[in-house]
Amino acid sequence: MSEKSGHWLNHYNLLMFEEIDSTNEEAKRLAKSGVSGNFVIWSKAQSAGKGSHGRYWNSAYGNLYLSLLIWPNFKAKQAAQLSLLTAVSISNFLTKFNKDDKLIQHKWPNDVLINDKKFAGILLESAIKNNIVDWLIIGVGINLVSAPNLCSYQTTYLHKEGYSKLLLDQLLNEFMKSFDYYFNKWLQEGFEDIRKEWLAKCLKLNEVITISVGRERISGVLEDLTSEGYLKLVLPGGQICFVSAGEILYNIHQPNN
Ligand code: BTN
Repeated sequence: MSEKSGHWLNHYNLLMFEEIDSTNEEAKRLAKSGVSGNFVIWSKAQSAGKGSHGRYWNSAYGNLYLSLLIWPNFKAKQAAQLSLLTAVSISNFLTKFNKDDKLIQHKWPNDVLINDKKFAGILLESAIKNNIVDWLIIGVGINLVSAPNLCSYQTTYLHKEGYSKLLLDQLLNEFMKSFDYYFNKWLQEGFEDIRKEWLAKCLKLNEVITISVGRERISGVLEDLTSEGYLKLVLPGGQICFVSAGEILYNIHQPNN
């Protein structure tokens, strides 16, 4: 990774809070108030942390909670790529602290896992005008010192997984350096290299997965990630299906393919 692009603090206004309802909500309030420029909103804790699919995100002190507010001016369908880019930004900097990064996996579309357990989640929110993204909020939660026990999936935190020397402000700085690098790369060169990096750590690549899309469930072999950031599935009958949004289900009995 090159440092040529300069320090990330030159590109973002940093707002810090001891505790707030949700950094995504604060970012939204800022966006609607008509601020200009990019922001990073960082809070030590959240009283109403938001997860994807309307879930609650447990936000105790010690973990990282931040939201990026950017004004990218790109087509709405490109926004999904930013979630994948953020996942790559997280997995990439972690290799600096623990060279054995083989167990880090990207779970489409917005999770990062170590050894099948989730430690980071990403929540995108945006305002779209005439098919163009006006503002985009990228909410990032990274478990550093604790993780909630959940029934729906297994969780972990970085200190437990061999990153015990990592401090919270260092985690913020390393993540932001990495994000700044990949975001500039994306602006200049597009998604292709980032797509390949994401795919290299894709959870369950070439395996049968089940995705819930609204009320529907689709099972098939996860074969590829498209240039738009969609999943390519091969269904049991051989048909190809592209999925732009949904959730890969854990602990589901997979049909024989
Ligand atoms: C997920 O469910 O995986 C997405 C979790 C996103 C959590 C982060 S924490 C910082 C930001 N503020 C929020 O309220 N949510 C996101």
